[in-house]
Amino acid sequence: MDAFEVMSKRRSVRKYRPGHTTREQLSQIVNMGRLAPTARNEQPWEFVVVTESTKLRQLAHLTEHGRFLTDADACIAVLCRDCVYYLEDGSAATTQMLLAATALGLASCWIAGDKKAYAPAVVKLLGAPEAYKLVSLIAIGQAAETPSPPKRALQEVLHWERFSG
Ligand SMILES: Cc1cc2nc3c(=O)[nH]c(=O)nc-3n(C[C@H](O)[C@H](O)[C@H](O)COP(=O)(O)O)c2cc1C
Repeated sequence: MDAFEVMSKRRSVRKYRPGHTTREQLSQIVNMGRLAPTARNEQPWEFVVVTESTKLRQLAHLTEHGRFLTDADACIAVLCRDCVYYLEDGSAATTQMLLAATALGLASCWIAGDKKAYAPAVVKLLGAPEAYKLVSLIAIGQAAETPSPPKRALQEVLHWERFSG
């Protein structure tokens, strides 16, 4: 799959079937996350990979819209130390990891972290220092659905030279 195909194919998957995502695949995914752009090249992130089913269940129950984590093979938590652009930086890493998962034939879904009331509880559960911000949780696993959410058309969102229409 080339980069354009990967970006076109990626979808948020919320139904997972039993399977196995290897440590090597998860390391490859995090490796792509760490290469994302960051303001002033601060790389303020740490990535916690959870594969234990008990902990996946605990994470699932802390979130508002991430119960499906229970059936995923793994969850990658993106944590950033507090700096001006932590959210942009952590979001860029999250996106790269979603795409890396797609490239490996794995399903994924971004689960909200930042601004969520449960974020401090997740930080604590993962044993991270209190000052860290939870940017996202990424579910990774084997797809049991093929979602196709509507996307706005290119001609509707693309403006040449000035905002028009
Ligand atoms: C900041 C952010 C937070 C999100 N949080 C959740 C979430 O908590 N639970 C969930 O199921 N999906 C979540 N999503 C996934 C979006 O719902 C999804 O990207 C959107 O519906 C478009 O679908 P697609 O990813 O398949 O293109 C989140 C996405 C972003 C960018």
